[in-house]
Amino acid sequence: MSPLLETKKLTIRFGGLAAVNEMDFIIDHGETIGLIGPNGSGKTTFFNLLTGIYKPTEGEIRYCGESLSRLPTFKIAKQGVARTFQNNRLFLNLSVLDNVLVGMHPHQDSNWFDAIFRRSYVERETEKGVEKGLELLTQFSEELASNCYQRAGDLPQADRRKVEICRALASNPKLLLLDEPSAGMSPAETEELMEDIRKVRQKVGGIGIIIIEHDMAVIREVAERVIVLNYGRKIAEGTFQEVSTNELVLEAYLGREEKDAQA
Ligand SMILES: Nc1ncnc2c1ncn2[C@@H]1O[C@H](COP(=O)(O)OP(=O)(O)OP(=O)(O)O)[C@@H](O)[C@H]1O
Ligand SMILES: [Mg+2]
Repeated sequence: MSPLLETKKLTIRFGGLAAVNEMDFIIDHGETIGLIGPNGSGKTTFFNLLTGIYKPTEGEIRYCGESLSRLPTFKIAKQGVARTFQNNRLFLNLSVLDNVLVGMHPHQDSNWFDAIFRRSYVERETEKGVEKGLELLTQFSEELASNCYQRAGDLPQADRRKVEICRALASNPKLLLLDEPSAGMSPAETEELMEDIRKVRQKVGGIGIIIIEHDMAVIREVAERVIVLNYGRKIAEGTFQEVSTNELVLEAYLGREEKDAQA
């Protein structure tokens, strides 16, 4: 079987800067990979390439054996690649439930014609969507589900992340990309987030997850394999234990002088 996603020599240049540089990457069905690296090392840009926001300068992205490299973002979403953003991108003036419903859009096929001439079809699709949205929210948090008509902008940061993850899951993804999901969370909220990620893995069998994180406790807990970027290049790959003792990784994070000072 083809891997869930594979990139070969994936590269994007902005002027002289190669933000992602010859990246070879593989994730299998059901695998959770941690993507780490210092600020500006190309992690978010890698997600932007996988989701079609940026087109690669060179290289290839294959998803379940098919090329994704030239597909527009909406087609990539429809194929089952969903993400959350480093800076929360909820529709703050919409309700929690409406935000989750937005995530179902790639799989809903009613259009303006149906809205005028086939109202019952649209109503049925909407009802099904609401049911599924509530189910997802309930899985994550009973409290969120019972306050699903609350304005998303009134939620605390941790709940906004949950809604964002629910919105991503609403599209039935095979691959979920989480960009710094614990940013702005307290240690207790981060614990809850790790529990949420475990839940997602259990409930959505076979889902692949790539998680970008600065909080190494999260990576240690949830990632089966860790990939480290520096200046757009993959510099290490392995278990958390392996990469956290890798010389190149320590150097990238600490800088050689500080590392020498610590020795
Ligand atoms: N659209 C763009 N135009 C020019 N440069 C860009 C663009 N997008 C990203 N870059 C540059 O690419 C590099 C990688 O940025 P990226 O946001 O991917 O880093 P990151 O690893 O996600 O960092 P952080 O941990 O701070 O989120 C940075 O130097 C950034 O300035
Ligand atoms: Mg980033």
